[in-house]
Amino acid sequence: MTEKTWYVTTPIYYPSDNLHIGHAYTTVAADALARFHRLKGEEVWFVTGTDEHGQKISQKAHETGVSPKEFVDKIVGFIQNPLWQSLGISYDRFIRTTDWDHKRVVQSIFENLWERGDIYKGEYEGWYCLPDETFWTESKLVDGNCPDCGRPVERVKQASYFFKMSRYQDRMIQHILDHPDFIQPSSRRNEMLSFLEAGLEDLSISRTGLDWGIEVPNDPEHVIYVWFDALSNYLTAAGYLTEPERFARVWPPDVQLVGKEIVRFHTIIWPIMLMALDLPLPRRVFGHGWLLIGDTKMSKSRGNAVDPIALTKTYGVDAVRYYLLREVPFGADGSYTEDALRLLFNVDLANDLGNLLSRSTAMIDRFGQGVIPGPHPFGPLDRHLPQLAAEIYEQVDQAMSQLLISDAIGQIYRLIRAANKYIEDRAPWNLAKDPARQEELDNVLYNLAETLRVVSVLLSPFLIETPEKIRRQLGMDQPVQSYREAIYGAFQGGERIRRGEPLFPRLDLREGATAEPGAPEPAQKSADMSQANYISLDDFKKVELKVGTIRQAEAVKGADRLLKLTVFDGERERTVVSGIKAHYDPQTLVGQQVVLVANLKPVLLRGILSEGMLLAGSAGQQLSIVAPSSRLPEGARVK
Ligand code: MSP
Repeated sequence: MTEKTWYVTTPIYYPSDNLHIGHAYTTVAADALARFHRLKGEEVWFVTGTDEHGQKISQKAHETGVSPKEFVDKIVGFIQNPLWQSLGISYDRFIRTTDWDHKRVVQSIFENLWERGDIYKGEYEGWYCLPDETFWTESKLVDGNCPDCGRPVERVKQASYFFKMSRYQDRMIQHILDHPDFIQPSSRRNEMLSFLEAGLEDLSISRTGLDWGIEVPNDPEHVIYVWFDALSNYLTAAGYLTEPERFARVWPPDVQLVGKEIVRFHTIIWPIMLMALDLPLPRRVFGHGWLLIGDTKMSKSRGNAVDPIALTKTYGVDAVRYYLLREVPFGADGSYTEDALRLLFNVDLANDLGNLLSRSTAMIDRFGQGVIPGPHPFGPLDRHLPQLAAEIYEQVDQAMSQLLISDAIGQIYRLIRAANKYIEDRAPWNLAKDPARQEELDNVLYNLAETLRVVSVLLSPFLIETPEKIRRQLGMDQPVQSYREAIYGAFQGGERIRRGEPLFPRLDLREGATAEPGAPEPAQKSADMSQANYISLDDFKKVELKVGTIRQAEAVKGADRLLKLTVFDGERERTVVSGIKAHYDPQTLVGQQVVLVANLKPVLLRGILSEGMLLAGSAGQQLSIVAPSSRLPEGARVK
């Protein structure tokens, strides 16, 4: 028998607006799980997509003056590319509820349940929350508003088809009790059990007076309720009715990731639909927390949405993926701040990982003439890294099987940090002074290269560019193919490395640091590294210094030290955010000439893209902008 394909899904998103990093959070997590299972050699079916019908989308489209299909086509196109493309989302099927096969599936499900007597026609009278597309009875409202989102509801009274959910209440409770893994984390399980025990009502599953949706078979006045339509996507995308062979391999879903606000749909309505169809239920529905801004959920309607594409442009795809996967333990709510992202960038990515690679390759270059030496029989001090790597190989696997993505990354970081400590403990620069200790030195260099190789494998479900970059510097051209490659010992010694650019050039985290010389490198702890304090003339020439003139200056709201400057560089005006507010009155700066670092990577500071930095000297409390001693044309090179 062929093995079951590992099936993972995200919610399908409403294309009513562009998506934000809250949506990216779910999708990147699903992607990491999918990549991990592929790495383990499993067949994977990873599905994401868009929920395109319903009153909300229809209204939005009419407000914009285009048809609903035109409206969604545009947003969906953008979601596929550039959004998911730029985050490296490796879905196997992108399902749209406007796809032809989906319509067929939804209508067949409806007919099937009608024939079984699970659907009947009646009259619905109650309330409807438009933003959530949810029906509510009077008794569930809180102060007359939607109990989920707190927004106003509208009265609905119309003929409707109903799904006999009440019939399945006891079976559903029993299923949850018998399958402790079905709803995760377990706190959400108790919530759902209380909801079920309070009593299930039949669900209205059609609307009249709305033409944007899938018609009820043989009764075109009615369109099928958008949630009934949307939940069925998981069946369509698995090939239900249209690709029976795939369906046999893929069904049921192994993990369905959903935000906590839609756990109820996925652990009550959805499994009851499947019970009624005599289909196996998903193995796990995982309700994760929200990304918050301050105390509130990030959302487009609240105006606090953060654009993932802008973040990837500033920090690179891997830093954004790393932040989303590592910072917020999967399950809990977490606050998003760009400062936290920047900090994680410097500490975990630049310092711990980036430095490990650059220090290791620098030493292999210097002490091993660019060739990975050894290994020779290990002494006691050299056995720790291989042992730890073997332990972490198991731990990462275990954490991932429990969907503890942040913990899995934390385990990998134990290895990275241990390798950095190993460098300090073994001080290869001292070993190099004593020819009698050549084998020890070889083993240290070998262990560092081998650990980095293992790290490149372990990180590959989470980061999509970095593992390849690490491998290239280690002289490996093959991409990571299997989790087993994370078993220690593949390097034989004798491989030639290729040193390269830093993986994650450090960000200057000081507020307004763009006006000051770059942040000091992390403390240089070893003699070996102190050599790196010299730069060559060629290095210096990489810094493009130009004369510019400040044309506008204003304080940055909410920042004590920052000014926003508009600087003309001879070709164009650029914005530079600079930490000189305490030293200059903005008005006096207009017309001031400055020396601009023109090729510094732009960074976001307090939401403003800063495109360069001004040179300034400082001593204690004093700070003074560096400028030519007599006026020069803007754009003049400083060298
Ligand atoms: N279309 C429905 C889902 C149907 S699934 C059959 C829907 N769409 S949505 O566009 O509102 O997206 C909801 C999902 O986006 C959430 O369940 C969650 O996975 C993700 N998130 C949206 N905002 C989020 C945060 N602020 N934080 C974390 N996830 C968030 O509901």
